[in-house]
Amino acid sequence: MSMQVLVVGAAGQLGAEIVRACSGAGHAVTAVTRRELDVTKHADVLALVAAARPDAIVNCTAYNDVDGAEDQHAHALDVNAFAVRSLARAAHDAGATLVHYSTDFVFDGDGSEPYTEDDRPAPQSVYASSKLLGEWFAADAPSHYVLRVESLFGGQAARSSIDRIIDAILAGREARVFVDRVVSPTYVEDCAGATLELLRARPPVGLYHCVNSGHTTWYDLAREIARQAGIEATLVPVPVASVTLKARRPRFCALSNDKLRRAGVTMPTWQDAIRRYLDRRLGTAGSRG
Ligand SMILES: NC(=O)c1ccc[n+]([C@@H]2O[C@H](COP(=O)([O-])OP(=O)(O)OC[C@H]3O[C@@H](n4cnc5c(N)ncnc54)[C@H](OP(=O)(O)O)[C@@H]3O)[C@@H](O)[C@H]2O)c1
Repeated sequence: MSMQVLVVGAAGQLGAEIVRACSGAGHAVTAVTRRELDVTKHADVLALVAAARPDAIVNCTAYNDVDGAEDQHAHALDVNAFAVRSLARAAHDAGATLVHYSTDFVFDGDGSEPYTEDDRPAPQSVYASSKLLGEWFAADAPSHYVLRVESLFGGQAARSSIDRIIDAILAGREARVFVDRVVSPTYVEDCAGATLELLRARPPVGLYHCVNSGHTTWYDLAREIARQAGIEATLVPVPVASVTLKARRPRFCALSNDKLRRAGVTMPTWQDAIRRYLDRRLGTAGSRG
């Protein structure tokens, strides 16, 4: 059934993909960028949503500068938390479903098994705390899906950390990669597909982990990219402890997709996602292993 979907943050990495996927699925999309709507302006949010009368609001806005947030508390909270409260209120008033995205950074990363939705968050940075608050505010919308994603890649601008690794490998440059940070990467195409499937199938509302299946260190991720690209890459393993970063990064951040799978959405493996993305970037579908 065709829906009226309002995508906010439509120019971002995920936002642009959500717009593309919604249009491709035949939904009527209202795509707004920061230019049309600053989500930190409460009254503007309420007015725009009331005028658009959406069935679903997909919030792709975020303040994602993890280190910058340590100096920009108010700004990070404004975008990642209080704006979500406005969107939840607007969704409530419009009778719309709110889809909101959060992050693996809500965990401290001291675990050793993939985190589930029942595991206790323990944010270690201003960014992480602001995103956790955003999750809580999103849940104020009577109908909501909060999807935790991680290490997003595959946006049109190709500016993610994974894109930087791919760029270095393809250019024959050395790539320095964390050897002891574990992640479950998320291909924007798969995240958009899962979002649409949730809006179609309507499993119970709530929090879902929405990453590609499996997990890897950044080093093994880079090795897999090089293997799939058929390139002998120069990879330099970097221990997290050897790098000084303003905000603490969680070390182990594998997320379990089991709840999403039980809801009927199976996420492809991260290796499969990398293969499809390399095919798209290199235009070599079907020619690599
Ligand atoms: N990227 C990752 O690896 C990652 C990891 C975990 C979770 N996530 C979450 O996934 C979601 C999508 O991330 P993404 O990578 O697609 O982010 P992105 O590319 O940084 O896009 C965020 C968008 O939000 C816009 N924005 C920021 N402040 C705004 C405001 N006040 N009003 C309106 N728009 C505003 C930005 O506009 P400008 O460009 O003009 O600033 C940008 O277009 C976010 O919730 C993010 O926290 C991402």
